[in-house]
Amino acid sequence: MFIDNFRLRFYILFMESIQQLRSQFQQELLSISTLTQHEEISIKYLGRSGSINTLLKTIKDVPLEQKKEFGATVNGLKKEIEHALEEKKQQVLSQTEDAQYTDVTLPGTPYARGSVHLVTIAIEEISRVFSKLGFNRMSYPEIEWEQYSFENLNMPPEHPARDDFETFFVDHQPSDVFGKMILSPHTSSGQTREMQRVQKPPIRMINLAKCYRPNWDASHVPMFHQFEGLCVDTGITISHLKGTIDYFAKEFFGANRKTRIRPFHFQFTEPSFEVDVSCGVCDGTGIIDGTKCKICKSGWLELGGAGMVHPNVLKAGGIDSDVYSGWAFGFGIERTFMMKEGLNLDDIRVLYSGDVRFLEQF
Ligand code: PHE
Repeated sequence: MFIDNFRLRFYILFMESIQQLRSQFQQELLSISTLTQHEEISIKYLGRSGSINTLLKTIKDVPLEQKKEFGATVNGLKKEIEHALEEKKQQVLSQTEDAQYTDVTLPGTPYARGSVHLVTIAIEEISRVFSKLGFNRMSYPEIEWEQYSFENLNMPPEHPARDDFETFFVDHQPSDVFGKMILSPHTSSGQTREMQRVQKPPIRMINLAKCYRPNWDASHVPMFHQFEGLCVDTGITISHLKGTIDYFAKEFFGANRKTRIRPFHFQFTEPSFEVDVSCGVCDGTGIIDGTKCKICKSGWLELGGAGMVHPNVLKAGGIDSDVYSGWAFGFGIERTFMMKEGLNLDDIRVLYSGDVRFLEQF
């Protein structure tokens, strides 16, 4: 009687725990959606110290007559679990073949290779041309004082010429000496900085830097680049300026390109000029196949401003204007590069849009 009772109790407990394990497994089986989860659950049930083995180890406590049945039931559950897991594995594999199953022997996906931005290409090429002429490559501050951008360039406070260089002001305590802090609107601010740095001519500088003006339309971006040439020495004349610009045009654009200078006005140069380079698309004629050249319309493309350094600028830089003279020019890097490539962009903002389809062409 005692034995029978004991057997019965054992049997009930045993069947309950088998049933519990089965339903727990079935629930967890449903939650499997990746191979990693599949592996975790396989280990949990079928691993060396998984639920099935733990259960099998209790066989030593099972009454002798029931050992056989116990073993058969547990092994039956084991087979059931193995079978269900195998089926699940196939299902997971077929659903998430690419995402989950990586064949490590396949060649990897190559990284997309970037290229240098066209403004960087232009900066390197421009620097190369001027380094052959012995010019110092500088990069004067983007955040500048009014003093260097205006006063030192013969544009006192309230002078209307400042309007030509619309300016971003930096929210910073103004200086008693240098005025307000601004984002440099042109690279000409580097002129008196270089004069103060070198102190005694000769000076040959090429300043390539970022400039800022608050314009945003198809032909303007608020951040752009300029390169500024400055040459100061004894006996420097306009012909040195023209010769240098010619040399640059032939080296940078090609041997067949010409330049011209036209009278203009800048506060910081006297006399002042605008500089043009002959169009490379129509070869300076302004006409292609009997119609107006779409790139230049006239045979010439405008490079930028230039002139002989104003005596007041030399003075502001600490240079004796009775002994020394000099020339300066300032051209836009983006514009210059577009002229080289014969590019006629409808909207120059594409330069900074980060669109690789545009950028990877250069
Ligand atoms: N700084 C002038 C501009 O941005 C260009 C310039 C530079 C003109 C040097 C004369 C001399 O328009």
